[in-house]
Amino acid sequence: MRPKGLLITIDGPAGAGKSTIAKKLAARLGYLYLDTGAMYRSVALAAKEKGLSFEDEERLALLAQKLDLRLKPSENGVKVILEGKDVSQAIRTPEIDRLSSLVARIPGVRKALAARQKELGKDGGIVAEGRDMGSFVFPDADLKFFLTASPEERARRRLLQLEKAGHKADYETILKEIIARDERDRKREIAPLVVPEGAIVIDTSEKGPEEVLEIILARVKEKLHA
Ligand code: DC
Repeated sequence: MRPKGLLITIDGPAGAGKSTIAKKLAARLGYLYLDTGAMYRSVALAAKEKGLSFEDEERLALLAQKLDLRLKPSENGVKVILEGKDVSQAIRTPEIDRLSSLVARIPGVRKALAARQKELGKDGGIVAEGRDMGSFVFPDADLKFFLTASPEERARRRLLQLEKAGHKADYETILKEIIARDERDRKREIAPLVVPEGAIVIDTSEKGPEEVLEIILARVKEKLHA
């Protein structure tokens, strides 16, 4: 066992329910919730605010290395503090959805963020959520999960989320964007979205969060008592 507990990874495409589950799981276990999507989103937001070109891989990688970024545990998961400012809401817009997927394709950005993630996870006691947690950043994790759901169900969930946050959106556009983003995330050369070796795959299309959480907790208990 690692000093602080298990190292658990949760990967999967956008809208599969990863964040909801990862937050709840971390709270139940008293572990740290590591939202790695928020890190890519923060790089995208900082780049936009600084007026950097999204083609300029070198400067974007440098930005990812130097970024003053903190993920502070909070009641509803995590507060994202970028250069001293709370950007938890600002990183969840449709524009940052798109820009973060662009920065996530840059090898230097991935390298910089993966190094930070490894440092945060090395002692365990963590639920690391993202796209490449079990495959690339933590290949020796104690437990790996891969959550998935149909594109239609994921688009429906995303629509609800955006509406709740006060953004205008329509289902067909979101569905198209989800399919395009999946393609980009799966086909990129570096750390593509794949089912990690040894991961437990859960299709959440017809399951509520509590049901998914129970499936995962049963595996965690098994592991802790093994
Ligand atoms: O999970 P999310 O929607 O907050 O992620 C934002 C973007 O970052 C998305 O395009 C996928 C990418 N990402 C990644 O490539 N690797 C991760 N570990 C986490 C997110």
